[in-house]
This record gives sequence, C-alpha cells and structure tokens, in this order.
Amino acid sequence: MILDRLFARFYDSVLKDTEEHGLRDMRAALVGDLAGTVVELGAGTGLNLDHYPAAVTRIVATEPDPHMAKQLRAKVADGHGGGASRVEVVQAGAERLPVADGEADAVVATLVFCTIPDAPAAAAEAVRVLRPGGVLRFIEHVRSSDPGLARWQDRLDRPWGVLAAGCHPNRDTVALLRATAGLEVGEVRDDRLPKAPKLVRPLALGEAVRA
Ligand SMILES: C[S@@+](CC[C@H](N)C(=O)[O-])C[C@H]1O[C@@H](n2cnc3c(N)ncnc32)[C@H](O)[C@@H]1O
Repeated sequence: MILDRLFARFYDSVLKDTEEHGLRDMRAALVGDLAGTVVELGAGTGLNLDHYPAAVTRIVATEPDPHMAKQLRAKVADGHGGGASRVEVVQAGAERLPVADGEADAVVATLVFCTIPDAPAAAAEAVRVLRPGGVLRFIEHVRSSDPGLARWQDRLDRPWGVLAAGCHPNRDTVALLRATAGLEVGEVRDDRLPKAPKLVRPLALGEAVRA
C-alpha cells in the first residue's frame, strides 16, 4: 500500500524532532545494559541499533513490513548496530518469530505494540522466545489515563491508523503485558512522547521479566 511505503520512507524524518527532544535518550537508556542475544520486535528503520552495548553479541531485528525491512537492511549494510556480523534482519511479524524457545536474553519493543495486529499473540511469543529470567524492555505510547483524551483516542483510532500504518493510539499495552502469562511487569514509568501529537503522547517505559 502506498501509505505504508510513504510511512517507511519518511519515518526517520517525521520522528527527527521527537528523537532529538528525548526519544533517542530513552532508547539508549532502555537497552544500554542488555547483554547476549536480543530479539527486537518491529524494528522499523533500526533506530535502536546504535544504542546496543558491546555486551549484546547478537541482535535479531525482526520487521514484517518490506519497506521498513529494506531500510533496516540498508542501515545494517552501512554498519549500524555493528553491521551484519552482529545484526540479523528477519522479515517476520512479532506474532510468530523464527526464534527457538528460550533463545533470547532480551526482547525489545519500542512503539510497536500499538501496531501489531494480534498484540496478545506477540506478547505470548515474547514469553516463548525469552529464557527464564530474560527481560522484555518496552517504550510504548499507550491509552491515556485521562478519560477525555482516551475518548479521543477511541474516536480517532481508525483515521489515525490509516495515516500511521495501522497504529492504534488507544491500546492499553501495559495492561496487556500484565495479563500475559509468564511475564512479571516491574515498575512502569509514565512519560510523554516528546514533540508528538497529543493522541500518541502518553508513554509507558519499563521491563517485564520472563518468570
Ligand atoms: C511506529 S513503527 C516503530 C518502529 C521501531 N520499533 C521504532 O522504535 O522506531 C511500528 C512498526 O511496527 C511494525 N509492525 C507492523 N506489524 C507488525 C507485526 N505484526 N509484528 C511486528 N511489527 C509489526 C511496522 O512495520 C513498523 O515498523
């Protein structure tokens, strides 16, 4: 679809202000102490790649959209994330990952549970691929705790989704993760997505441990 192609083409430029006003630092803090094998869900254009520390030895960057995956591959070919010796780009949706049970030390999800068509299946799949004690780290824009804004998120869910490649502004992703068997959600920090439209501003950052 043409809009998906445009979304991928202009993703980095649309997000530039948001990255510069705080999202880049949030990404760095989210993954900065990870180690071992990381599986990233819906890695998009690869904006997390350069934040992984040396202790991360393998990054499985999964992304189902062919236009996004093309940009991801180009970034890896340019050496981002350590290049192809460390990063594997896999075209796959988060509901069904080509990763063995317990293979991942960490799963990373940034701004992606809003878009995954079957988010509960993706959460269960994260549990499957994580080793016991492994962590799911997330930065997700979420349903507002303000009922007025949440109502607008419901009202504008469909038109927003058309413009933003299937993104749902009204998802309560933290509740979903709390309800997922095998995940223990720790402290969640509420924040704001910098320089973003009000509809997608409420942000949740945190970690869930694979029991
Ligand atoms: C807003 S972008 C976020 C990209 C990236 N994670 C980031 O932090 O910039 C949402 C991403 O979710 C991807 N996506 C869509 N359906 C998906 C699915 N079933 N599983 C995983 N990712 C999916 C989209 O292709 C897109 O790359």
